[in-house]
Amino acid sequence: MSKREADQSALKKALDSDWPQIQKRLIEKAAEEAGQAKPHEPYWTTGEDGRRTLNYSPDSWWLQHFDERDVLLGLPGVAVMHTQHWHTGAAVSTIHDAYNMRRATSAGECFAEDDILAHIERFARGQFVAIRTSGPGAGHAVGMATTMRTTRPPTAPILSWIEAIGDLQLAAHEPAGDWLYGAEMAVRHMYRRKGIGTGLYRARFDLVRSLNLRGWYAVGMLMGYKAHAGALDVVEYGERVIAGEIADPTVTMQMNRGFRAVSVVPDYDDEPQAGDAGVLIVWDNPDYVEGGESG
Ligand SMILES: CC(C)(COP(=O)(O)OP(=O)(O)OC[C@H]1O[C@@H](n2cnc3c(N)ncnc32)[C@H](O)[C@@H]1OP(=O)(O)O)[C@@H](O)C(=O)NCCC(=O)NCCS
Repeated sequence: MSKREADQSALKKALDSDWPQIQKRLIEKAAEEAGQAKPHEPYWTTGEDGRRTLNYSPDSWWLQHFDERDVLLGLPGVAVMHTQHWHTGAAVSTIHDAYNMRRATSAGECFAEDDILAHIERFARGQFVAIRTSGPGAGHAVGMATTMRTTRPPTAPILSWIEAIGDLQLAAHEPAGDWLYGAEMAVRHMYRRKGIGTGLYRARFDLVRSLNLRGWYAVGMLMGYKAHAGALDVVEYGERVIAGEIADPTVTMQMNRGFRAVSVVPDYDDEPQAGDAGVLIVWDNPDYVEGGESG
C-alpha cells in the first residue's frame, strides 16, 4: 500500500468509526450539562406564538436511528429519504442557502421548522430530504423537497405560490387530490451538480406512480433571469427558455428531467432573482390508471 493509500484508508477509518464515537460522547456530555435526561430523544419547545422549535441533533438521530431500509434512493455519500422531524432545521437552512436568504429577513416568507413539522404531519409521503451519509455532518439535510396533493389540474388558472399552497403549512393539501403539486425544492450550493436534485425528482416520480396520481405539476422559478434582466423582460426570457434558446439553471434542469414546459407564469412568487416569475411545468404519469388503486 502506498503512503497516499495508507493516508486515505486512515482518514476513512477515522470518519467512519472514530468520528461517530466522538460525536456520541460530545452529544451525551452536552445533554448532561444541560440536565437533559435522554440525550438522543427529540423534544420541542413551543414559543408564545404557538410555533414549535425542535431541540435535537441530527447527529444524534443518525447515530441512534439511521436505517438503510428508510433510504428511497442512494447516491455516493448522500441518501434520499422521507423528511423526519430531526431534519427540519437542516431542511430550513438548505432553503436559506439555496435562495441566498438571510434567516432574520426570511421569517414568514419561506418555510420555518414548525412549517416543515406541519408538512410531515399533513402528508409525510410527500416530504423528502437528501442527507449526507458519511463523515462529519452525516444525517444532515443538504437537499429538500416539499409536495402536496391537489384536485386542481394544471389546466386551471395558475394561482400564485401562496394561494396554491394555502399557507406555509400547506393548508391547501387535499389528501385525495389526483395531482401532485411541487411546493418547494432546494439543494445547497456546495452540493449542486452531483445528481441530488435529479434524485429528489426520481423519488417524487416514484411517489406519483405509487399513488396512481394523474401527474405532477409545479411552477419552476426562472432563477437565471437576473443575468438577462437588462436585455429581456421576464416573459420573453421565459419563452426563450421554453423554446430551448436559453438555458435556465432551474427550469431547463426540470425540462431535462422529463417535465414539459407549458407557459410563463408572471408574478408567481416574490423572488427577485427570477423576476418573480416561473414556468408551468407538467409531468403526466404514463402509468396512471383511471379508477385504479392508490398505493
Ligand atoms: C434546481 C436545483 C434544485 C438543482 O439541484 P442539483 O442537485 O444541482 O441538480 P442535479 O445535480 O441533479 O442536476 C443539475 C445539473 O447537473 C448535472 N449533473 C448531475 N450530476 C453531475 C455530475 N456528477 N457532474 C456534472 N454534472 C452533473 C445534471 O445533469 C444537470 O444538468 P442538465 O440539466 O444539463 O442535465 C438547484 O440548483 C437549486 O436548489 N436551485 C435553487 C432553488 C431552486 O431553483 N429551486 C427550484 C424552484 S422551482
